[in-house]
Amino acid sequence: MYNLILPKRYVVGFDTTQLPELFTEVLVIGSGVAGLSAALEASRERGVLIVSKNKLGENNTMHAQGGVAVVLSPEDSFQSHIKDTLEAGQGLCDRKVVEKVVRDGPSKIEGLLELGASFDRVDSASGELAFTKEGGHSHRRVIHGRGDSTGMVVEEALLKAVEDNVRISTMDHCFAIDLLVVEGACRGALLWHKQRGRFIVWAGETILATGGCGQLYRETTNSAVATGDGMAMAYRAGAVLQDMEFVQFHPTTLYIAGAARVLITEAMRGEGAILRNKWGERFMPKYHPMAELAPRDVVSKSILQEMQDDEHTHVYLDVTHLPKEYLESRFPNICSICASFHIDITKELIPVRPSAHYMIGGAKVDNKARTGIPHLYACGETACTGLHGANRLGSNSLLEGLVYGYKAGEEVSLSLNRRHRRVTSYPLKIDAGAGRLRGMNLEDIRDSLKSLMWRCAGVERDEEHLKEAEDALSQWREYVMDKEFHTAEGWELQNMLLVSSLIVMAAQQRKESRGVHYRKDYAQRDDQNWKRHITFRGQGLGA
Ligand code: FAD
Ligand code: SIN
Repeated sequence: MYNLILPKRYVVGFDTTQLPELFTEVLVIGSGVAGLSAALEASRERGVLIVSKNKLGENNTMHAQGGVAVVLSPEDSFQSHIKDTLEAGQGLCDRKVVEKVVRDGPSKIEGLLELGASFDRVDSASGELAFTKEGGHSHRRVIHGRGDSTGMVVEEALLKAVEDNVRISTMDHCFAIDLLVVEGACRGALLWHKQRGRFIVWAGETILATGGCGQLYRETTNSAVATGDGMAMAYRAGAVLQDMEFVQFHPTTLYIAGAARVLITEAMRGEGAILRNKWGERFMPKYHPMAELAPRDVVSKSILQEMQDDEHTHVYLDVTHLPKEYLESRFPNICSICASFHIDITKELIPVRPSAHYMIGGAKVDNKARTGIPHLYACGETACTGLHGANRLGSNSLLEGLVYGYKAGEEVSLSLNRRHRRVTSYPLKIDAGAGRLRGMNLEDIRDSLKSLMWRCAGVERDEEHLKEAEDALSQWREYVMDKEFHTAEGWELQNMLLVSSLIVMAAQQRKESRGVHYRKDYAQRDDQNWKRHITFRGQGLGA
């Protein structure tokens, strides 16, 4: 069985630290849609500090393209959105959570509109919101901004509100190394800043909003920040992680050797784009009645099948039948990215293939965004709320980030109102770690890890490859986890090793195929044995 060997980063009980300290009522780690929403809500009553490991707006939220799924069209209904979400989740969604997120959606979009987020309209005269469709949705219910730059529209509106808010302070380029857990409760975090070095933030309440972990895979749509830090920190703090085997792969990522794996939004298929194989043949109708708009896992697997059958590295997305002016106004970002690689999408096919896109699992939270560790909350991609089950419906995650972000913000205020204690410090000693760093090439291990995860724990899995991943990860953990690092690269690598190990462990355990988890050796869904969640309780580090 696994021995995960957690890096030891601090111990409580020795008054030996000389580290600078800050105090805040609420600490929010992460500045994407979830963290910013949480901070804005908490700031109604409380002082908030947001930290972010890169620039504030450098995250997955900023790259979101397709839109936000929300019931705002008169032809649509809550029941329909709930049904579609439950169907996609293949028996593992929490119905109450689905109902709450779907029903809370319209008011959260109202809130964003009030902050100045400008979603696209059918025309300026009517002012009606424009809706698009994505896989698995039975209505056109996805609103979008600046064509295919929805995330930017959302993030910019939230960031502007945060900047204008005197109760919120922000610190960018500030890496959270670990949560501080004292006597079983979260009291803040140990952080690191390039200029300041290590320091401590003592907090009344801490909200983890650190996003996903797409960077564990060689092929990914995710931004560089997505290294699973929040999940790893939560695990080390003793929280429960759930559904770690459910990594969602997006079917259509731009595939050009040497180019970043830029997402080609599903909304393109919603507007009529066709998938073609090496021979130019449309293939999706033979795999699913919804063809190009089948659920994502079906489209990803079908693409892989075509690639294998044709011994080709990718397939193609065809929008050449759509009017040039329409493509340029509806998908300006994608037109321009493809143009920079000399592909004119109005005349040429776009080379695409699947890549890691979204982590369904994460720190398990209840309906108040609480992790189970007192004073520690989680929201956004780093949390597992139970909304997505075994497969996330496109454009449901910005919605979830908004709803649970605001919920976390509301709850921390309530929790602080109930307590009348000032935020205080605790005696603490930074553990220097055991091993010395000798001749270790972090970049090489990171690249090897990403290749391993792509090959052995990707779209298709089986016992043999998962075992190969288990063995390699175990070997790397042996010499990486006990080392003391002084930069983010080292801590990130430790986090990536930990989260990869949990994904592999969960994928080995789930001996069936369900949603985004496809086992070639157990190709059928097995409700009798597996209509349940896999959870891991983290091993605490604090006193
Ligand atoms: P993020 O937005 O990723 O923010 C994470 C934050 O945590 C960052 O600020 C980062 O700096 C910080 N952080 C991480 N680790 C640390 C650390 N150790 N210390 C300090 N700070 C840290 N979803 C939709 O609903 N609709 C879409 O159209 C859509 N399109 C997408 C397109 C792309 C290309 C991608 C990658 C995802 C898309 N998604 C979409 C998914 C969605 O964008 C994300 O799930 C969502 O934005 C995650 O928000 P978040 O706030 O949880 O995390
Ligand atoms: C996309 O635009 O295809 C991504 C939407 C999502 O991941 O929710």
